[in-house]
This record gives sequence, C-alpha cells and structure tokens, in this order.
Amino acid sequence: MANFKFDIQSIFTEPIVRVSSNLLPHTFRGDRRRALDISSKMSQIIDHMGELSAVAQKLSKPVTSSQKLRMVENQTVYVMADINGCDGDVVIGLLKVGAKNLYLFDNVGDTRKVDQAPCILDFYIHETRQRTGLGKRIFDFMLAEENWIPVKCTVDRPSEKLLKFLKKYYGLETIIPQTNKFVLYEGFFEKDGTKDKCMEIDRAGA
Ligand code: ACO
Repeated sequence: MANFKFDIQSIFTEPIVRVSSNLLPHTFRGDRRRALDISSKMSQIIDHMGELSAVAQKLSKPVTSSQKLRMVENQTVYVMADINGCDGDVVIGLLKVGAKNLYLFDNVGDTRKVDQAPCILDFYIHETRQRTGLGKRIFDFMLAEENWIPVKCTVDRPSEKLLKFLKKYYGLETIIPQTNKFVLYEGFFEKDGTKDKCMEIDRAGA
C-alpha cells in the first residue's frame, strides 16, 4: 500500500472516492483554498498510484496521471484507501474508466461504430492487498456509479490477472476477437437476445 507524507483522512471521508478532471473527490465540500489543497494532494496520489500500476503491468509509462485526467472530460478515476487500518492510513488501489468512440467487430465479424463505449482503462490494487476481494469492491462500486454492466464494458489491454478476475466474478470468458487493443465479450452487442439499440450502435458506413 502507499503512504503519503500528508494526512489522507480529509480526502477519504469514504473508502472509495470518484475523481474526474477537477481532481477533487466526489465527497468534497469546501472553499476555493481548500479545493486547491485537496486537488494538489489528490494529484500526488493519482500520479503515485498510476506509476505503481504501470510497474505492476510492466508498462513503459503510466496510463493514469493527474495531468492526463485534468485534460479529459469523460474519464473517471476511482481511488480506494484504508483509513485507520492495521497499516495506518494508506491508499490501496485505483481504477480508471472512460467512454470512447470505437470501431469494433461484432460476433459475425461486421464492423460497428460504438459511440461512447464503456472502457476499463487502468486497474491496480497494491501487491500487499491483492486477492483479498478489494478489486471486486472497487469494481462493483464503479459499476454502480457509472450504471454499467460488466458485459457491456470494453477492456483496454487486460492483463492475465484482470482476465481471470472478470471471468471469476462476472462470468466473462468468450472474447469477440478485435484487431485493436480492446477486449470485449460475447453479449456486448446483445440485449435480451436482441440487438441493443440503447447503445447507439450503428453499422459503420451505414
Ligand atoms: N493470478 C491469477 N489471478 C489473479 C491474480 C493472480 N496473481 N490476482 C488476482 N487474480 C484474479 C483471480 O480471479 C482472483 O481470484 P482467486 O484468488 O480466487 O484466483 C481474483 O482476481 C481476486 O479478486 P480480488 O481480490 O477482488 O482482486 P484484486 O484485489 O487482486 O484486484 C487486480 C485485481 C486489479 C487485477 C489486481 O490483481 C492487480 O492490481 N493486478 C496487477 C495489475 C494488473 O494486472 N491490472 C490490470 C491491468 S489491465 C487494465 O487495467 C485494463
């Protein structure tokens, strides 16, 4: 888990906070001076956790940083902490999600343009806390907040651990092959056995 030189209790009034481009937790209440202080601390937390995630995934550079988050409107980072736990106040993990316009192959190999497809972009739980159910906790929190269901999510270059995680908890197993870096599962294009019109899916070029 990650320790910080500053007090994180004022940031994590709840174990999981949702953060978007203003770098403030969704629970934030306060004036401008306090907002500057909290967003500066959140920036350090996101940068550090993003770096740990990159190391864990053997990536050359982080997928998640405060600078990147500040520049986009449709991405959200969920950050989880353990306050007053056996290790004191520590940050445990991070989950970044966003919506992207993607061209994807459907089950029969036709190309479809999917507007604002839900995407899992970065996911990390500290090595000392993995396989204790915390990943499931933050993921379920995100699903409820975003109003997403797992089978409708695309996943950006999932690791073996994440593939196993998605299979174990959400039964996601059969992948619809793509030529880009995104993974999606059987059921992505379906809704109750019919094509899902709610997702604004159009056949490309139609
Ligand atoms: N080996 C195999 N499966 C694993 C492993 C592992 N080392 N770690 C987690 N899993 C899967 C398994 O299904 C496991 O169930 P099991 O222990 O019964 O086999 C399940 O996840 C455990 O569930 P949680 O405890 O809720 O998950 P956890 O807190 O470990 O978080 C996560 C899962 C985020 C994938 C974590 O393992 C991690 O941070 N891994 C390193 C970074 C990483 O690979 N992130 C995903 C990158 S891809 C992307 O972000 C789009």
